[in-house]
Amino acid sequence: MKRIKVFAPGTVANLGCGFDVMGLTLDGVGDVLEIGVEEGLPGLEIHNLSGVSLPSQLDDNVITPAVRAMLEAYGRPVRVEVSVLRKIAPGSGIGSSAASSAAAVYGVNELLGRPFSIERLVEFAMQGEALLGGVAHADNVGPALMGGVVLIRGYEPFDIVRLPVPDNFFYAVVHPDIVVSTKEARAVLPHEIPLSQAVKQWGNVGGLVAGFALRDVALIGRSMHDAVVEPYRKGFIPGYDRLKESVLSQGALAMNIAGSGPSVFALASDYAAAERIVAVMERHFADLGIGCRTYAGRVSNAGARVVES
Ligand code: HSE
Repeated sequence: MKRIKVFAPGTVANLGCGFDVMGLTLDGVGDVLEIGVEEGLPGLEIHNLSGVSLPSQLDDNVITPAVRAMLEAYGRPVRVEVSVLRKIAPGSGIGSSAASSAAAVYGVNELLGRPFSIERLVEFAMQGEALLGGVAHADNVGPALMGGVVLIRGYEPFDIVRLPVPDNFFYAVVHPDIVVSTKEARAVLPHEIPLSQAVKQWGNVGGLVAGFALRDVALIGRSMHDAVVEPYRKGFIPGYDRLKESVLSQGALAMNIAGSGPSVFALASDYAAAERIVAVMERHFADLGIGCRTYAGRVSNAGARVVES
């Protein structure tokens, strides 16, 4: 059996206004998987060596539908063994499930001699997201595989666009110790929205894409507003409006909910601001008696890749 180790980064989906269609890549946080592949006989095994609790049944693991979709498209029998070595805390909102399915399909593709494009890998990996939220969306698996910022221009047919991120671009993320399931966070959303809200939203999505394309961090900051989803989801995060005010007062370009939460992210144009912001985030949740984990680093242009260890 041929084996490699693969890293796939954590991600922040939605970026405020881009519900299900935009996401960016975090540097320095992610999953490491060892992948083994042998052609000739079919089979899939997943071993969890990460120390983090994961579903014990094969069919409940996000890796399973992602790898199965890929092997079905490959059309020849392949035995795949996956060992999860390092894992972002599940349910964090920073693309924990996406990092695993992205790393798995990336590794299998490498070992099979790259029969599939990176865009096809995104389509396979997003089948893992359907297992959790009921809907296959690529705003986490896209950046986990491709790096940078991605826009999913359309799902049918699938059309994904990668945008590079400016070098002077940093994130601050807080993951409070509260549980918000993706299913629950999607269930609270309206099925229809007024035209006036839609106008605001598509103006901001356009502004965000233009901001990344022009490397204009101020435009990115003022476009990262969400007229549609944030009002329904912020109630899951204690003191959200107060936190946003404090974070913006520390020089953040913008703050919003990371994916379906409960993590919250902010963007900044220098690392010192990102560090100040995580301190504010930590204090906010400590004052509420809620523990949390924080992350600060660079927004990354690098997606899934083979690693030594
Ligand atoms: N776009 C998704 C959501 C990301 O906000 O529900 C979480 O998987």
